[in-house]
Amino acid sequence: MTKKVQKNKPIGVFDSGLGGLTVVFNLQKSFPEKEIIYFGDTARLPYGNKSPETIQNYARQNTRFLLSFQPEMVVVACHTASALALGKLKTEFSLPIVGVLAPAVKAALAKTRNGRIGIIGTSATVKSNSYPAEIKKANPKIKVYGLACPLFVPLVEEGLFSGPLTNMVVAHYLKSLKEKKIDTLILGCTHYPMLKAVIAGFMGPKVTLVDPSEEVMPEIAAQLKERGQKAGAVSKGGLRIYLSDITPNFRKVATSFLKKELPRLGKANVENL
Ligand code: DGL
Repeated sequence: MTKKVQKNKPIGVFDSGLGGLTVVFNLQKSFPEKEIIYFGDTARLPYGNKSPETIQNYARQNTRFLLSFQPEMVVVACHTASALALGKLKTEFSLPIVGVLAPAVKAALAKTRNGRIGIIGTSATVKSNSYPAEIKKANPKIKVYGLACPLFVPLVEEGLFSGPLTNMVVAHYLKSLKEKKIDTLILGCTHYPMLKAVIAGFMGPKVTLVDPSEEVMPEIAAQLKERGQKAGAVSKGGLRIYLSDITPNFRKVATSFLKKELPRLGKANVENL
């Protein structure tokens, strides 16, 4: 391998399924020159209702798969895996591993004015208490309200980003958070940015939404800078997508996440890694 190729290693990204493409969308906007290798664990999703041990095991196998592409870093574009497995991955692997939780917390702390933050995510993410713990570590006075919204993921996977049913489900879950008078809401699941307009409409203009798929970009930029990679460095960019199962509706829904045509999908079995 030549020196030039080494200098432009890809960024590895994984998620339980297609939600992590919200992060890929922003990665391609921020670092168009970087090649991205995406792994979606579509055969084993959802992660949001699995035990911490299983999520950690899956996250480890996904990372091992991405390592075969010799990436510059791995981005854990899954809140459930970031909340439950990031610490373990960081101790077990020597390359930089970036999760979505810390950047989201940092942004929420900067945005809140009344010290009342909401966090919505999968059941596993909310149960892990990782978001409130991280927020309280920075400022114990902040009030944090966590809420699992399990029906949001299937809504998004059905392509129901708006409409009467989506309005109803959003109102059903977020009514209690609205009553808590939060002024900042973390969209703590990869799929939720797709529901941003409906969530913003329901919560009203006084509530600022934190979209971790955007907030994680400065941390990735900092990691690249630290490792001597510059935006605009010579590279061909591009995206390669691998899935543990090429599910029938992946291409259709993923196209709406990325807002453009997808490359050819590769199949990858990571179970024995
Ligand atoms: N990607 C997951 C997350 O961000 C949501 C889907 C799942 O439960 O696997 O938490």
